[in-house]
Amino acid sequence: MSSEDLKRQAAARALEAVSDGMRLGLGTGSTARHFVELLGDRVRGGLKVICVATSEATQAQAEGEGIPMSTLDETPELDLVVDGADELDEQLRLVKGGGGALLREKIVASASKRMIVIADDSKKVAVLGRFPLPVEVNPFGLEVTRRQIAAAAARCGCTGELTLRQRDGKPFVTDGGHYIIDCHFAVLPQPEALAAALVAIPGVVEHGLFIGLATGVVLAAPGGLVELGQ
Ligand code: 5RP
Repeated sequence: MSSEDLKRQAAARALEAVSDGMRLGLGTGSTARHFVELLGDRVRGGLKVICVATSEATQAQAEGEGIPMSTLDETPELDLVVDGADELDEQLRLVKGGGGALLREKIVASASKRMIVIADDSKKVAVLGRFPLPVEVNPFGLEVTRRQIAAAAARCGCTGELTLRQRDGKPFVTDGGHYIIDCHFAVLPQPEALAAALVAIPGVVEHGLFIGLATGVVLAAPGGLVELGQ
């Protein structure tokens, strides 16, 4: 079974949690893309939902599927968000932002009663950090912010290279107009302390650690689906 098949299976299971009248957050990335496609089929079959996207890319996909869309300003309380992740651990702590949408993803997740993460089982790790931690930063004072991130991380037991994410030879720019610094720490021994230290840095807009947000995980493995949490 291909990785895309596994992602689609996880998306299909998460779709079972969706019912008429729900207000949904739609995640970003290749796994969330499957969810939006499958949701589009259900909407065309008569399911009534209203959705908020976590990125311009997901907004465009959902509109193309004919899914009724709203904004967080119009719909500030959501029942469920379904999103992917770059890494997750047994405590449902996540690293997100590989697709660069971490800020909107976190705002949407914080507005939602439940968050179901969908992924293939390669994303589950014993210790977070193998995937470089994305940190969204204001372009102003970039070098100051980079140094402050390195110092704060070192106090939390994290060292490694910090790289400015690039696309087509230029800094990658998020939907919010910010840059992303990818932190190659290999392990994050104290995720909560690191999260608190990062948000205290003025130039940091948001970081990719999602702690206490995911309520359930659907992992697709070649042997079948594994569900964690609710
Ligand atoms: C985007 C994200 C994605 O959810 C994450 O990168 C997972 O993507 P994929 O499903 O393509 O592996 O956080 O900012």
